[in-house]
Amino acid sequence: MRTLIKQVLRREEAADTLHVAGWVRTKRDSKAFSFLELNDGTCLANLQVIADAGIPGSEDLAKMSTGASVEVHGRLIPSPAAGQKWELQATSVKLLGAAPDDYPLQKKGHSAEFLRSIAHLRPRTNLYGAVFRTRSRMAYAIHRFFQERDFVYVHTPIITASDCEGAGEMFRVTTLPDDKAARVEEEFFGKRAFLTVSGQLEGESFACALSNIYTFGPTFRAENSNTSRHAAEFWMVEPEVAFCDLDGDMDLAESMVKFLVHEMLENHEGDLDIFAKFVDKGLRERLEFVAGRPFERISYTDAVELLRNSGVSFQYPVEYGLNLQSEHERWLTEQHFKKPVTVFNYPKEIKPFYMRLNDDDKTVTAMDVLVPGIGEIIGGSQREERLDVLLGNFARAGLDAETYGWYADLRKYGSVPHAGFGLGFERLLMFVTGMANIRDVIPFARTPGHCEF
Ligand code: 4AD
Ligand code: MG
Repeated sequence: MRTLIKQVLRREEAADTLHVAGWVRTKRDSKAFSFLELNDGTCLANLQVIADAGIPGSEDLAKMSTGASVEVHGRLIPSPAAGQKWELQATSVKLLGAAPDDYPLQKKGHSAEFLRSIAHLRPRTNLYGAVFRTRSRMAYAIHRFFQERDFVYVHTPIITASDCEGAGEMFRVTTLPDDKAARVEEEFFGKRAFLTVSGQLEGESFACALSNIYTFGPTFRAENSNTSRHAAEFWMVEPEVAFCDLDGDMDLAESMVKFLVHEMLENHEGDLDIFAKFVDKGLRERLEFVAGRPFERISYTDAVELLRNSGVSFQYPVEYGLNLQSEHERWLTEQHFKKPVTVFNYPKEIKPFYMRLNDDDKTVTAMDVLVPGIGEIIGGSQREERLDVLLGNFARAGLDAETYGWYADLRKYGSVPHAGFGLGFERLLMFVTGMANIRDVIPFARTPGHCEF
């Protein structure tokens, strides 16, 4: 059985018969032997292999160039070289797949744009290997955070007939040929169906039965915003908690973000080093800062006041009743508070129908968590649990009471105060890795005009 290079490098003892496999990162030849730097993607570090001329398979050494895949048997011995504990003295090598001269990752230092165009090969680079291992570990950490706190993981549907955010930014799902596109009655589901923008509404149904739940899955938005923080397909983590108000919701969001940042600092298996060295020199310091301090909390009304008195001339206007733009969010967290900020109680006019109306009759119990470098990573709220108020919201939002009847039922039968939020998983990944573009933390990104691979 082959041993993963990660496990080889962690070994306490030498070994006489090791079997490894991987892709050649670099090769250096001398007359009597070759050095192969072998990487199998299980960790950032390479295993150095010494292959003497004359061992079985060495006739193919010339073809074991950068990018080639090889299998090696050998003896693991302490390495005299600085910075590595072990090296592998090969007893045989085998070329599995050569990589001709046009292998695109010959040299280091490609641009992010170029690497996006070869997204099928970029996980073989040090940086993207680290990004996608981090993505996996963070996903696992999210499950740990919720499972350890007795939250039930619920799979909400990906195909849905409801528009949770009411923004009309949905991808339609249909089997009808183009010329029959108008025939709703012939649709597969007998009605118009879409890819979900959020699992929240269905999540609420389960929270109003199992108390503490979370969803974690893909969501889709046909918003035509070509920014470094928006994707058409992204993953969202959505906890929903029964018998919980806005304060409890903000507490949960803050403790989850801190848990995940802590996880990145403590359990990155070396991957943080490459982000801190090549992507964002201030990363480690920022993560430590965030993990160790309470987030700022400020109402939307006070935030607007602060922004108006900031003396900064923003591109977009700041006025009560308007949405905060990314430049405003970033000023609050980067310039003013210099830490994550939770903004709460937004004007009801700019928020979706499901948010609970405050006693002032003007604001709803919305909350957004903003972080330095990115802006919003979490959006959530306490939910409107009063049936009459919710029905009024349906009417105002132009929502069909029949389509959303099941959602109203949650208020008709045993209604409880409840709250939840959505964490954009990719935005979290940008925050903990320092990667500046959402396209670079998604294996195969879908953005306006781009659906390659
Ligand atoms: O603020 P949003 O729209 O909230 C909801 O969807 C609620 N239903 C969540 C809930 O209460 N259960 O989206 C939540 C988060 C945002 O804060 C952002 O991090 C991320 O999802 N997000 C996106 N991430 C990448 N690309 C996009 N196009 C995104 N739109 C939202
Ligand atoms: Mg939002």
